[in-house]
Amino acid sequence: MAQKSRIAVTPGDGIGPEVVAEAVRCLETLRAKHDLALEWTRFPWPSHAWHEEHSESMPDDALEQLGAFDAILLGALGDPGPMDDPQRYLLPDSISLAPLLDMRKGFDQWVCERPARLHPGARQFLADERAKDIDMLVIRENSEGEYVGQGGRLRKGTPDEVATQMEVFTRRATDRIIRYGFDQARLRATERSQQGRTRQFKTLDGRSCESQVCVITKRNALRYWGDMYTEAFEEISQEYPDVATHHELVDAACMKFVQCPWTFDVVVASNLQGDILTDLAAVLSGGMGVAPSCNLNPTDPDMPSMFEPTHGSAPDIAGQGLADPTAMLFTTARMLEWLGRKDPALAAAGKALFDAVAADLAESAGSQRGTREIGDAICKRLEI
Ligand code: IPM
Ligand code: MN
Repeated sequence: MAQKSRIAVTPGDGIGPEVVAEAVRCLETLRAKHDLALEWTRFPWPSHAWHEEHSESMPDDALEQLGAFDAILLGALGDPGPMDDPQRYLLPDSISLAPLLDMRKGFDQWVCERPARLHPGARQFLADERAKDIDMLVIRENSEGEYVGQGGRLRKGTPDEVATQMEVFTRRATDRIIRYGFDQARLRATERSQQGRTRQFKTLDGRSCESQVCVITKRNALRYWGDMYTEAFEEISQEYPDVATHHELVDAACMKFVQCPWTFDVVVASNLQGDILTDLAAVLSGGMGVAPSCNLNPTDPDMPSMFEPTHGSAPDIAGQGLADPTAMLFTTARMLEWLGRKDPALAAAGKALFDAVAADLAESAGSQRGTREIGDAICKRLEI
């Protein structure tokens, strides 16, 4: 039997614990059925509840503790809800969400992968029938850029106050994220051709390729990093003549995500621009309730990667059993596939979970079901 893979389960705030409970039930079902070498430990932090008791969102040695695991499965962080309780314990976003950024940084999870595919049964927000073909992978640079957290406030609270917020872009992080994008494009083309669903993308010189990478910048206004991204993209693309290349300014990309999202394959964007684009991409794939997200460290096997849905703590529906666990379960499937790099049985379990969630979505299109009911239906499928 393969060496046990260990998961740190951090349910967090709001609907986090509700959707994580369904993920854990699916993991239990899969482990029992396939005798998986998998175990998990649940942590009450980071969370508002922990902060209320300990005056900090997580213990000082949190990263050390989490670092001993192979992956982190995170529910959501933020306003715990319910919204109609004005007395609830609330923290400023910059404090309650800091652990998320600390984990990404501390474990050098330099890739944030957010696939956006309109699965059958998912809500189609665009009227155009071609929206059914939406299938893109947005890769967000996750280690630097606009999120380095450098800056400060001068003369705070006075009319002469100055706030500075630095953006930092290094050539090393730029190269690695662009190269990762090209590698994923190739991988996706191979997978598609194995499944008999080839796609075609035109290159600038009129050739046809089976995959594409579109890099996003705002180089007409933010020229320093924009030009560096453009140069790195141009250079690295030479190593991938089989992949079509494309560039969009971020504002135009927003327009085209709505106008013709089916023309995108892999999209590489900076930390903030990727953050914004992936909320839009989530809606294109059926909404926040179905959008998975993975924070990956593909280079250091000793560092855990973190898996969390794109959605937040949804305080408006927290505690009511109404949250759709689909995004969490798609995310859990991707975590198993990731762990499956070392243990093929986990990769197979990840595929089984993905298929069960997709089948459930297809069959139950538009029906009003609670968190538990959706979890039940998917667990049932996994038992067959
Ligand atoms: C996300 C979230 C976070 C981000 C917030 C909560 C800091 O919006 O994961 O997309 O901006 O990265
Ligand atoms: Mn976001």
